[in-house]
Amino acid sequence: MSTIRSVVLGAGGYLPEKVLSNDELSRMVQTSDEWIRQRTGIRERRVAADGEFTSDLGLHAARAALDNAGLTPADIDLIVLATATPDHTFPAAAVSIQKKLGMKHGVAFDLQAVCSGFLFALTTADAMVRAGQAKRALVIGAETFSRILDWTDRSTCVLFGDGAGAVVLSAESQPGWRSDRGVLSAHLRSDGNYEKMLYVDGGPSSTGTVGHLRMEGREVFKYAVGMVSDVIDEAFAATGFTAADIDWFVPHQANIRIIDATARKLGIPIEKVIRTVDRHGNTSAASIPLALWEASRDGRIKKGDLLLLESLGGGFTWGAVLLRW
Ligand code: ACO
Repeated sequence: MSTIRSVVLGAGGYLPEKVLSNDELSRMVQTSDEWIRQRTGIRERRVAADGEFTSDLGLHAARAALDNAGLTPADIDLIVLATATPDHTFPAAAVSIQKKLGMKHGVAFDLQAVCSGFLFALTTADAMVRAGQAKRALVIGAETFSRILDWTDRSTCVLFGDGAGAVVLSAESQPGWRSDRGVLSAHLRSDGNYEKMLYVDGGPSSTGTVGHLRMEGREVFKYAVGMVSDVIDEAFAATGFTAADIDWFVPHQANIRIIDATARKLGIPIEKVIRTVDRHGNTSAASIPLALWEASRDGRIKKGDLLLLESLGGGFTWGAVLLRW
């Protein structure tokens, strides 16, 4: 029986021009290139310029995704932006992107699940597409974490970077088989009991300030692999796919050790893992769409490939999505 699925028509990305190397960081806080590379796999990250906002990064990525899909803003009726670093407390940065794209139609909103934001946005857009509420959606992850980092705290400031990625989803009729293209299965989780392990110590309703990112790095590490593996098992159980069916594993890019340990636990060979963390750092909600953009642009991810996406972020929030490109 045929079914409507959200099929990816194009991907785009954007990285700010300014590269911040580990060596530069070691002149700002007491750290070293060797420590950062060994513990995280990160060599460098990008930092947005003064006056360059999350909506600007998201706009570049959205335009690139539209170009890649051969579409224009007139074709889009939904924008979902995943971000934990919006330009303003309100309105949503998504409506700024909508305006900058010259759109007066459709609907745009932000969604916040920190590093899991892109998977939450993708799942939300997919549900709206399948419910007939949207035909073509831009799903964007864009972040300027450089603005919420404590640049004197070496345990956090070396980990994150700025960037944006986007995909265009289109409602397409598919046969309803395992070989269908599009979002095949999405599994999201959260548990607020972990909120103090990774959080920002400010906000409009609590301190009236923006605040800075705080993290119990070792604790986050301890939970990440297990929680993510559990939700991936859930996705496999729901669909009948196994790790052996996966063409590309596209994890959230937090840390090379978390990525590799998860791939090992699942039995996915390292050649099938898309890794950008060495050059981007952790770009939170932007990391998965940036990885999709990079690997589809260089020809690794091809039409018909089965992708496993996963993430864990502040909250905790976590999830896994099976998607056929
Ligand atoms: N440079 C040098 N030394 C440092 C640095 C640094 N940048 N940061 C911390 N250290 C020191 C600590 O002060 C500590 O010193 P001490 O032993 O004298 O007290 C020592 O290094 C070890 O610190 P730990 O925090 O135990 O180091 P660990 O091996 O756990 O590595 C890291 C820290 C990289 C943060 C790790 O815990 C990690 O990757 N955690 C996952 C967190 C993460 O990736 N979060 C991203 C957001 S969540 C997500 O996206 C999944």
